[in-house]
Amino acid sequence: MIDWIRAKSLGYLYKAVRCFSKFFISRLADIKKNQQDLESVIDFGDTVLDLIPFKSTLFKFPIPNKNKVSIYDLEFPSPFIVSSFKMHSSSLEMWSSIGAGAVIVKTILPDVSLGNPRPRIQEVDSSGQPHLLNAMGLPGPGVASFISTIQSWDWLKKLNRPVGISIGGHSSMDYFESIKKIESCSFDFSYFYELNISCPNTPDGANLSKHVDQLDVLLKDLRQLTNRVISVKLSPAQTNMEIKRYGDLLSSYERMMVNVGNTRPTKRQDVGLSDLQFSRPVAGLSGPSLIERTREMVRELKSVDVPIIATGGISNLSDVYKLKTDGADLFGMATSLVFNPFIVVEFNKRF
Ligand SMILES: Cc1cc2nc3c(=O)[nH]c(=O)nc-3n(C[C@H](O)[C@H](O)[C@H](O)COP(=O)(O)O)c2cc1C
Repeated sequence: MIDWIRAKSLGYLYKAVRCFSKFFISRLADIKKNQQDLESVIDFGDTVLDLIPFKSTLFKFPIPNKNKVSIYDLEFPSPFIVSSFKMHSSSLEMWSSIGAGAVIVKTILPDVSLGNPRPRIQEVDSSGQPHLLNAMGLPGPGVASFISTIQSWDWLKKLNRPVGISIGGHSSMDYFESIKKIESCSFDFSYFYELNISCPNTPDGANLSKHVDQLDVLLKDLRQLTNRVISVKLSPAQTNMEIKRYGDLLSSYERMMVNVGNTRPTKRQDVGLSDLQFSRPVAGLSGPSLIERTREMVRELKSVDVPIIATGGISNLSDVYKLKTDGADLFGMATSLVFNPFIVVEFNKRF
């Protein structure tokens, strides 16, 4: 009961800080005559979070033992996992303390990448509910710098739960070379790979989701290199037939998972944004309206012998129960955590 009251109070506090940050940044943008940009709010929020001491204690909530999920040799204390969208250490630590069963870090490209021009993320309304539209374009430090960064995150070693390392690329070779680099290092925590083959925001981030034969060759090569669990993240834009075909391919390899799925390609004008408010004409929509497509993809894969991560649109426990019945093993979340990460406490308690 006390934990529940603490989670509710922290949830309200989080939302209040978020509202204040949005207000503050929008006033600042008005004064500077800049276009308002959600990324500035996110950066501001990240800075505030970095200043909070004892995060792992302050935000720590118990996870009931019954929620444990074992997949191959990976032990997830909870089925609710942080989907790949963030590389900020304090945020990942906070979500883990609150009760996420794993974090999948933001997709890493082989080399330093600046991503797309800003504004490239905005909060938008779709079907009367808040969503995010993002065209970040996988900005990041490149795989070499990522390795030293993640090795310096001491909190990861103490957590004792799997970490997903999401790999992106412009070609099959990029995925292979990045994993080869990571395999040559040692990490003090358990981890798995996720191949992000469904990024709608880079010119070639979804190529492998159109060429199942190329993915097959890549997986063959990767299985020569590593026995580590590999998840492959598909796109809601793929047809059901493609989803099934990819599922069948993954089930022919050892120790695979499938993640359905990524953001939904959406035109900026369809969610009311102009070219001044958003730099790219098409981007990835995330949030509650994805849930029906996520369920459909999970059902498409039910007969396939591969563990399923359901990602896209999860915002309440009723979604989770339906996805579980549909056949999902783990539940990935991004947008809901941005709006209120403390919902995970209730999910863990009532699941
Ligand atoms: C700002 C933002 C950045 C994202 N970056 C990535 C990424 O780097 N790699 C990836 O696989 N998915 C990325 N995603 C997609 C999410 O992992 C997730 O699949 C998608 O948002 C649908 O889930 P949701 O409805 O719970 O947000 C991103 C999503 C958002 C909102």
